[in-house]
Amino acid sequence: MVFYFAPMEGLTTGVFRRLHARFFPGADRYFAPFLAPDGQGRVKDSALRELEPDRNADLDLIPQILCSTAEAFLSLSRELAAMGYEEVNLNMGCPSATVVPKHKGAGMLLDLRSLDAFLDKVFSGTALRVSVKCRLGLESTGEFPAVQELLKPYPLSELILHARDRKGLYQSTPDLKAFAEAYAASAVPVVYNGNLLSPAHYSVVMSTIPKLERIMIGRGAIANPALFRQLRGGEKLCAAELSDFLDALFSAYLSSGIGEYHSLGRMKEAWYYVNHMFPGAGRQLKAIHKARSAADYRAAVASLFSAGLFDADAHFPGSLPGAP
Ligand SMILES: Cc1cc2nc3c(=O)[nH]c(=O)nc-3n(C[C@H](O)[C@H](O)[C@H](O)COP(=O)(O)O)c2cc1C
Repeated sequence: MVFYFAPMEGLTTGVFRRLHARFFPGADRYFAPFLAPDGQGRVKDSALRELEPDRNADLDLIPQILCSTAEAFLSLSRELAAMGYEEVNLNMGCPSATVVPKHKGAGMLLDLRSLDAFLDKVFSGTALRVSVKCRLGLESTGEFPAVQELLKPYPLSELILHARDRKGLYQSTPDLKAFAEAYAASAVPVVYNGNLLSPAHYSVVMSTIPKLERIMIGRGAIANPALFRQLRGGEKLCAAELSDFLDALFSAYLSSGIGEYHSLGRMKEAWYYVNHMFPGAGRQLKAIHKARSAADYRAAVASLFSAGLFDADAHFPGSLPGAP
């Protein structure tokens, strides 16, 4: 199996990716959170710095672009090519209400004719490999056959399918049946994504699509950063390594120049997921989320780990048909 770490805005930063790869090798490839260029294809220098090859040494990293015009996509792709990237991912899945009406992310599915024109320009205008990360539809997963028909002529390097429609945001139960049909009908490699949160979820996905070779995981691997290792038959996460990882992550944010307030913010975003590895630790977790200084934060984390509530079999909650 080939495992990908999903792009997650605010979570899978350069700092996170480097440390995750060091502490928990097991993801074959990381996808960077989206770059959203303006009409001329420009993004902030800080966004490009996140992708600098020397900051991502030894990582197989794919940048992602979220935009609605082929011109912006191509212009930013040229910049990424100049940085040494050979592949780029197109975000066709973001469900946000601020993105979709602008025909970006999942909003690209609003008008399939414009999408076709976009892809035509992109594939005739770039030498980079282009993959697509897409949902199964906007209002219904039944929309995907029409999207797949549209994608057919284009030489996608792979198709990453988040097995939900846009309406399902991050809550609905993934539609494994619709995914399996899309998988069977695809001429390009297909990657599964959506609610793969534990070994039991993995078994369900593999029993539904036994030939599947590529899987992308997001929230499950933020909550349990050893999930890829575990799915490869390795050791479960242990509390000591989780503690060391989170400690290194906080230190790395503090020394990255973003300051104490933002470093705490980044850690609290990660804890929103990691929380679930500590069932019943409501009081200790609350103290982490309330911490206003590095000292308070460290004391709260130490108190949580010493409470002995860590459970390596816990996971971020979410359903898959047939999984406990
Ligand atoms: C906080 C958050 C940020 C995300 N940021 C991105 C992003 O930048 N690009 C993208 O394609 N998907 C993004 N996603 C979607 C994830 O990559 C993934 O498709 C989704 O979480 C489903 O996979 P999972 O169930 O394994 O988490 C984000 C999801 C969340 C919850």
